[in-house]
Amino acid sequence: MNITYRLFLCCLMGIVMLSCSKESSPAVSHAPDVPILPEVPDDYLSAMETEGLFVHSNEPFDNVTTNEGAQLGRVLFYDPDLSLNGRISCGTCHLPEFSFADGRQFSSGFGDELTHRNTPSLINLQFSNTFFWDMSQSVLEEQVLLPVQNHIEMGIEDLDYLAEKLSAKDYYPNLFNQAFGSSVITQENIGKALAQFVRSINSNQSKFDLARDNDFEDFTAIERAGMQVFARVGCNDCHSVLGHNLVFGEDGGFFPGGDEGSFYGGTGGDAANIGLDLAYADQGMGQGIFKVPSLRNIGMTAPYMHDGRFNTLDEVLDHYQYGVQDHPNLDNRLKSSNREMNTGDREALKSFLMTLQDESFVLQERFSDPFVR
Ligand code: HEC
Ligand code: HEC
Repeated sequence: MNITYRLFLCCLMGIVMLSCSKESSPAVSHAPDVPILPEVPDDYLSAMETEGLFVHSNEPFDNVTTNEGAQLGRVLFYDPDLSLNGRISCGTCHLPEFSFADGRQFSSGFGDELTHRNTPSLINLQFSNTFFWDMSQSVLEEQVLLPVQNHIEMGIEDLDYLAEKLSAKDYYPNLFNQAFGSSVITQENIGKALAQFVRSINSNQSKFDLARDNDFEDFTAIERAGMQVFARVGCNDCHSVLGHNLVFGEDGGFFPGGDEGSFYGGTGGDAANIGLDLAYADQGMGQGIFKVPSLRNIGMTAPYMHDGRFNTLDEVLDHYQYGVQDHPNLDNRLKSSNREMNTGDREALKSFLMTLQDESFVLQERFSDPFVR
């Protein structure tokens, strides 16, 4: 984006704000009226490229991502006017620097009430078939409107009211027109734009991604060892890290196997009770079943699990190694696997998990808050 243009707008806004405020009150910060956007929308599409991956995007035919649509989604994502009292945007709980989670066990909604579950990171959701920890949603265009209506999160139950509210803001009709060829704002198009933006949050530049092209030659010995531990103790049975599970080849190397389609980003349909609780405080989708989360950027998304109960990866590993409780609903894969790890195995496993970090994308301007606060 054109820095001079941005600076110019900042100065202009500075002057307007100074000349408007009778008493100067620098402590009060609120979203300005206009988002600062590039003259030509950023390129959202090229990072969504799926060529060479054996995976299918969940993008529907009637909402194909465009740069204009994703850019509109970005503005909506960071606009606090999507909440009842103008205090909370999606970006309040889903922050780029936390891989679109927020580093908290539970998050504060528009009325300071806490969410009942931990805010998950938003990453590679174009390859996910289910949304929310309880996997209750399957269409992203519909899912993205639910936080807006949620009585804890954003509190606008009536989406027609939201459409009216947004229509009254100067810049939206034009942005909707650019995205959808009509400046009339509908709840359907709000959902479509938000879904396009969320779908564009895509990671494929982690060390793991880059290394798989040359047989993991760039991995250190510890990272390679960790990859083997990951498969040996069965993490791989549920958390696939790429479009496939890692499977041991006869030569001790890895080749793609398992369920290609549903797993890119590490999410599968058949999550299971993983022995966290004997009596469920949260049933998930029933019987303590929760979505298998992606392990991408896992170093940025603590605390962990649906209830954010673990603060560190070590606590998570302790759970898998010592804490899994037997239960009639316990996932078979956890009943059968031998998860013994010595200190070296655990360190190696953590090193491997860190190869799934992809910081390249999270701080890109096209994902950032366009409102200067
Ligand atoms: C107050 C904090 C908060 C706000 C605001 C918020 N979210 Fe979330 N988000 C959460 C929590 C908590 C969950 C998990 C809820 C659950 O699974 O029951 C979640 C889940 C999601 C998921 C599902 C991710 C997955 O892997 O299944 C998506 C997508 C999402 N939010 C997008 C959005 C969008 C888009 C907005 C704005 C319209 C938004 N969120 C606003 C806290 C928030
Ligand atoms: C039986 C399937 C299964 C196996 C095997 C499994 N996991 Fe998980 N994992 C899950 C599910 C389901 C969750 C979410 C549980 C919840 O929130 O209650 C999870 C959560 C996690 C989380 C927290 C992610 C987050 O964003 O909060 C980490 C980290 C993790 N697993 C790592 C591992 C490692 C390392 C192994 C191998 C030692 C492993 N998992 C084995 C299913 C599995």
